[in-house]
Amino acid sequence: MLGIARTGIQVTLASVARGNGLRQLCSGGSGSYKNILVEKKGDKSQVGFVRLNRPKALNSLCDDLLRELNVAFREFDADPSVKAIVLTGSSKAFAAGADIKEMQPKTYSTVFGTNFINDWTEMLRIRKPIIAAVNGYALGGGCELAMMCDIIYAGDSAKFAQPEIRLGTIPGAGGTQRLPRAVGKSKAMEMCLTGDMITAKEAESAGLVSKVVPADKLEAAALDLAERISRMSLMAIYAAKESVNAAYEAPLSQGLLLERRLFHASFGTRDRSEGMSAFTEKRAAEFKDE
Ligand code: CAA
Repeated sequence: MLGIARTGIQVTLASVARGNGLRQLCSGGSGSYKNILVEKKGDKSQVGFVRLNRPKALNSLCDDLLRELNVAFREFDADPSVKAIVLTGSSKAFAAGADIKEMQPKTYSTVFGTNFINDWTEMLRIRKPIIAAVNGYALGGGCELAMMCDIIYAGDSAKFAQPEIRLGTIPGAGGTQRLPRAVGKSKAMEMCLTGDMITAKEAESAGLVSKVVPADKLEAAALDLAERISRMSLMAIYAAKESVNAAYEAPLSQGLLLERRLFHASFGTRDRSEGMSAFTEKRAAEFKDE
């Protein structure tokens, strides 16, 4: 039994429940998650699949949802059978932002004193790739959540925006920092200063999303991508994610050095040897994540 006690929620793999084709992990004591659905998908069940599931509030990101999301991500990160994760919402909303009704009564001393939404950054410690599959609204914190993922696929009806300015505030979970890196300063500034939405096609041409597909094909496309990644060596997956992320954090010289050292380190893995042998022997590589 693998148990993780975090932020008051106890999750056990032994408590996996089956129903409606879903394997829904249970949060101890209180039954299943309340705000997300969690299952493993793909031919070899190598894809961790998380669906935001607060339909009445358009998947707005309340504290409880974030707590559950962090637990689910950590479970998949620790599960050796899972190699990539897909995060999605509903056809109407990936997520309509932080929960405005929950935030409305908060004061400066409350949010500063509790370091409000600091737990949103926990997902940045997940080592396996997370693919955001965005249909419908990805607004405010919803857009920021998608940008904290590693790859964004969008359905053709998706809409992205940072509308916080219309609430008299600004993005608080990375919108003013990650959006300019994705779409450039001018478009990011326009979005943050007006709250205007951009379409999936605009997001693709600006570089925010890597692929747009018909809305009803989105989950299959994201799952296909996750399965293709899952066929690689987990050692190389970790190294590639770490190295690409360094491009955001480190000066070029340090990023290049990290990349070179991780490249060198891959020569210590069984899978690198197997991958190159398979190429020369004209056969498919059999990776063992070693
Ligand atoms: N927080 C709380 N509740 C929300 C919500 C949010 N972010 N977004 C939608 N809802 C609720 C609505 O209040 C409504 O609930 P009731 O039925 O109880 O009234 C329900 O979801 C359905 O919403 P609408 O009736 O508004 O649906 P619509 O189709 O007419 O409009 C929408 C959809 C354009 C997404 C609109 O709901 C909207 O503008 N939502 C707010 C978007 C927003 O401002 N997001 C930024 C939040 S701040 C933030 O995220 C800060 C940060 O950086 C961390």
